[in-house]
Amino acid sequence: MGSILDRRAWLKTAGTAGLGALLYPFEQSGGQTANAARKSANTNEPVKLSSNENPYGPSAAARKAMIDEMDACCRYPWGSHAALIRDLAQKHGVTEEHIVLCAGSNEGLRATALIYGGPQQEIVAPTPTYLALLTYAEQLNTYVHNVPLDDKLQHNLDAMAQRITRRTSMVFVCNPNNPTGSLLPPAAFRDFCDSISKETVIFSDEAYFDYIQEANYPSMIELVKQDKNVIVSRTFSKVYGMAGIRAGYLITRPDIARRIKSVVMASMNVLAVAAARASLQDKEFYQFSLDKNKEALNYMYKIFKEHGLQYERSHANFVFVKTGKDVRTFNDAMRKEGVITGRPFAPLNDWCRISTSTMEDMEVFGRAFTKVMAS
Ligand SMILES: Cc1ncc(COP(=O)(O)O)c(C=O)c1O
Repeated sequence: MGSILDRRAWLKTAGTAGLGALLYPFEQSGGQTANAARKSANTNEPVKLSSNENPYGPSAAARKAMIDEMDACCRYPWGSHAALIRDLAQKHGVTEEHIVLCAGSNEGLRATALIYGGPQQEIVAPTPTYLALLTYAEQLNTYVHNVPLDDKLQHNLDAMAQRITRRTSMVFVCNPNNPTGSLLPPAAFRDFCDSISKETVIFSDEAYFDYIQEANYPSMIELVKQDKNVIVSRTFSKVYGMAGIRAGYLITRPDIARRIKSVVMASMNVLAVAAARASLQDKEFYQFSLDKNKEALNYMYKIFKEHGLQYERSHANFVFVKTGKDVRTFNDAMRKEGVITGRPFAPLNDWCRISTSTMEDMEVFGRAFTKVMAS
């Protein structure tokens, strides 16, 4: 193991030989990979259901791609970006100039806030929703119009449209929304984005797009293709199970993409690029992730029905449930039972967002939930 060459040879073979267990801490499950390292049920670690992660990832193909790419870690990543950009452009039917790579979609959300935020600018957004772009914009002294969800916990599109002023630089939408997991009716959503994009820029956060169960549900990428003022964000953190690797991207018109690229700081490293490219090819893991997510969602629905609770049917990897208890009290009680649940989303303080995980984790959750709800 003395020389660099020895070490490289070891790293390359470790993935497939006995030492592979160190680098591949997962088990085979129906021909698929389940990450045993995340099986909190077998450890004293709490079960983490608070950040909408996918415990099965990264896929075996992504792990292998990262190991194979180790030698390239001594190089800057810029040269590696072209191939991933090409893959993504092909996947979405856009040009390479439409793609902005980022270190998780969060970086894309924040870079966008840098371009479209500022003291003279206003952003219109639903509340509650995912905050990365909005809190960053507020730090840049942007005024954010927070428009409450309607009584069905959907974006209130009419009320959002009414908040647009001459100063509005962007309208932010998140569909499926975080924390509700709900999905807007396709025609109403498309028409809203289309008409608003004539007045200002629409940002469509599509982090959970892959989980949508409705056939042919439209991505706002279709408006990008029509040269509208639309920015779409996507991520490898959810269905691809790579939240820790930081890989995401934006799709937008080339002139907008150029402006945002100029303020992206981290972008993607060589391992993230390799893992992302391999993940795009791994259709089996993709379907496995979706199937496992559905199983966990159904498990939660069953428990919530048994308790007679109101919940939102989810198009994502979490469920928003009205426990009727103050979310902080509920979270403390769940934590004592070894389960970490989602943060508060004011003003819906008697609701809680609970992420899916392995069925072992879901069963720990189910026992804890039943105990906490009985107390
Ligand atoms: C709606 C939404 N958008 C974006 C993100 C950020 O994802 P990432 O930065 O890991 O791509 C999240 C993370 O939970 C999210 O819920």
